[in-house]
Amino acid sequence: MEGFGLDATAWRNAVGARVPVYDRLLAAAVGIFEHPQDGLERAARDRVEAAWRERRSAASYDRPLLLLAALRAEALRAGPRHPLFAAIGSAAIDPEAATRPALAAALADAPARLFVDLATRRVQTNETSRAVAWLWPAALAGCADTDRPLALFDVGCSAGLNLSADRLPAPWTDLAGNALPVAAAARIVTRLGFDAHPLDVGRDDDVVWLRACVWPGETSRLERLDRAIAVFQLASSAPNPPRLQIAEASDVAARIERSSGEHPAATLLLAYQTVVRDYLPDDVKSRYLAGMTAWVAAEAAAGPRRVWIELEAASDVLADPGPLPMALTAHLADRATGTRALPLARCSYHPDRLAPDVAAVADFAAETAWKQKRAKI
Ligand SMILES: C[S@@+](CC[C@H](N)C(=O)[O-])C[C@H]1O[C@@H](n2cnc3c(N)ncnc32)[C@H](O)[C@@H]1O
Repeated sequence: MEGFGLDATAWRNAVGARVPVYDRLLAAAVGIFEHPQDGLERAARDRVEAAWRERRSAASYDRPLLLLAALRAEALRAGPRHPLFAAIGSAAIDPEAATRPALAAALADAPARLFVDLATRRVQTNETSRAVAWLWPAALAGCADTDRPLALFDVGCSAGLNLSADRLPAPWTDLAGNALPVAAAARIVTRLGFDAHPLDVGRDDDVVWLRACVWPGETSRLERLDRAIAVFQLASSAPNPPRLQIAEASDVAARIERSSGEHPAATLLLAYQTVVRDYLPDDVKSRYLAGMTAWVAAEAAAGPRRVWIELEAASDVLADPGPLPMALTAHLADRATGTRALPLARCSYHPDRLAPDVAAVADFAAETAWKQKRAKI
């Protein structure tokens, strides 16, 4: 519990105005944890402290968001009888219902499962608007209108929902409103996801957790999530279903390398990660980045084309977040330098409109085109 007040205040200052109900709940939580007023508040504090006793948090937003997600998960499971249901569980949320007494009751009287969530879960989303990271580059590489095989590797895949996003609506346009091409009908031969803590949408409690990690009031995100879960479940019983593996990011390049050899030369091997890099501890991050760079550079002259795409916060984001703080970057093998990076576009955290870099996009399309001669087909 040490430092929770500082973390909660930092989060409220940075983001609180966007989610008033969470802002109010965190203010109440700091009050209860730092100065419990009665037996109920002391019980609430003690139970949270017991759940977090063995946990270590790296990022400052970890504990505030985990507490809020666990409360929302419980409100979704319990329904209208939950003390905070009107505040964070119902479709039409009421921030005024997020009171200190309601929070104290929601924690002190909660079933054990809320504290299991607090002790074991991670705040984890799966945002399918980020599937543009592969659907668009795969189209640029010719997988939309040919039967070129496509092998997908999603690193930090969460529940793997982006691996079946070819069956979801494609909302992406450039800034002028022109639809970006997507490889919605691609011949996908492999859909492999890796995550240190993958979620299984075949399990009700994982579905509740994914829904709980969407902030109250974000109805369109929730609808997108529900649809993506339904589509993933259908894809799971279709040919070439998505498969998820438990894996530390730093081990992923070696696993992709092992599965790269089984594909014919025409295949496009497309590995991607969306909003994962900055969650990795420094040592894991540097081994992951080095491993993926080496995987791209190890492309064989007559073998399948290897592409690694990152959708991550742009390097200038701290200086000026602006409306398009994310960068979509493609890495390709380069004879002279080992690999080269092409900045395909800028976009938002939940992309719908993208600002493509026209020259980089043209380069990428030319470089990744299915060259039959090169592939010796
Ligand atoms: C913000 S979520 C993004 C999920 C998904 N890529 C998306 O865009 O919806 C970050 C994901 O990275 C995973 N992750 C965090 N650290 C990891 C690690 N060291 N190795 C593998 N996956 C990790 C988390 O479990 C989580 O699913």
